[in-house]
Amino acid sequence: MSKITIFLIFVVFYKVINAANFATQCFLPTFHRGISNASPIAELWNVGPFDCLMYCIVNAGKTGDGCASVVYHRRFSTCQLYGHDGTFDGAKIVFATGHDYYNRTSYEGICQDRHTPSRGYAQRQKHPKVHGVKLQNGIALNSSSQKVSTPFNYPKAYYLYANEPKGECSRRQKLGYFVLKDFELTRTAPVAKVNGIDRFACLNYCAQNINAHGDFSRCVLISYDARTEECQLHDESAKEAALFTRIEPKEYTLVAEKFCFDKSLRCPAETHLRVIAGQEINDRPLHTFTHFETLNECTNACFEHPYCKAVVMQANTCTLYPTILSSNLELLRPASGRNTVVVDCKC
Ligand SMILES: *[C@@H]1O[C@H](CO)[C@@H](O)[C@H](O)[C@H]1NC(C)=O
Ligand SMILES: *[C@@H]1O[C@H](CO)[C@@H](O)[C@H](O)[C@H]1NC(C)=O
Repeated sequence: MSKITIFLIFVVFYKVINAANFATQCFLPTFHRGISNASPIAELWNVGPFDCLMYCIVNAGKTGDGCASVVYHRRFSTCQLYGHDGTFDGAKIVFATGHDYYNRTSYEGICQDRHTPSRGYAQRQKHPKVHGVKLQNGIALNSSSQKVSTPFNYPKAYYLYANEPKGECSRRQKLGYFVLKDFELTRTAPVAKVNGIDRFACLNYCAQNINAHGDFSRCVLISYDARTEECQLHDESAKEAALFTRIEPKEYTLVAEKFCFDKSLRCPAETHLRVIAGQEINDRPLHTFTHFETLNECTNACFEHPYCKAVVMQANTCTLYPTILSSNLELLRPASGRNTVVVDCKC
């Protein structure tokens, strides 16, 4: 590989990591919402949601106005940046399909403005200052930026994991589900709902990508409430930045998400893998991968390893274990990292 190629790969990799951090630490998204009756401080065209969030923090300040929220339009790949959260001076947050509203919830650490907006923010009392942060290629060099890894605390307890959204698998693959018991999906509008069925029937609608009328409806994950028997079918719009699944503890509810794995692997089709959020395994690991982006990459690596029975995924690190969780639950312990998940891969 040429030096240029390696450099480009590095730049793309760095950008993905950085953007994902912005998305999860600096903003609180609400899907299917837009802002009405307000003029934006900036508008971007032909961009992905990550670019907009990054621009809000890295570049918006240069124009003089601080960026406090972003509305992304999926269909047109455009976004608008606002100097307030959408509730200022007559502005309103409104329901709007195909739009995602991101409220900027942090202005510190990695979320700090790279250029202090000279006119400040429309809504905020204090104008946050950039404290002697030197910039080189947009990377903060000040030692205080060491703190950047402290995750922003959302008001509610939640967990986040990255999994590539799948509606169906290719002919060389089998379909499986990541199942999270006693968790619900962070509130977002489902694309379809079916009432009065059990969770297997609910998964059946999802597997076929159909709604209650039998019409096509792409299904990436379900959220099922055993008490009300409500089956919610979701596509990737339920995911943060179309990659991260955000879940919160809730009794009697369940989240199940599709993933694909190779047909030649030992587990049967429609395998359910139990996901345990916020825990890690206290056992001797078999192997560690440090560059995985999604949970399904990690479980696929486990399937390919002859002794692997469980995995732990924390940020981009995937660790394989020989541990049979069903008979060794005492080996689970609360994880230090906030978004650590264990997956029982025995099947
Ligand atoms: C946006 O986030 C800020 C900071 O967390 C909060 O004070 C404000 O109420 C939020 N606005 C909306 C509309 O959610
Ligand atoms: C880093 O920023 C802090 C304030 O956040 C400041 O007190 C400190 O002097 C800065 N350090 C350097 C090396 O610029």
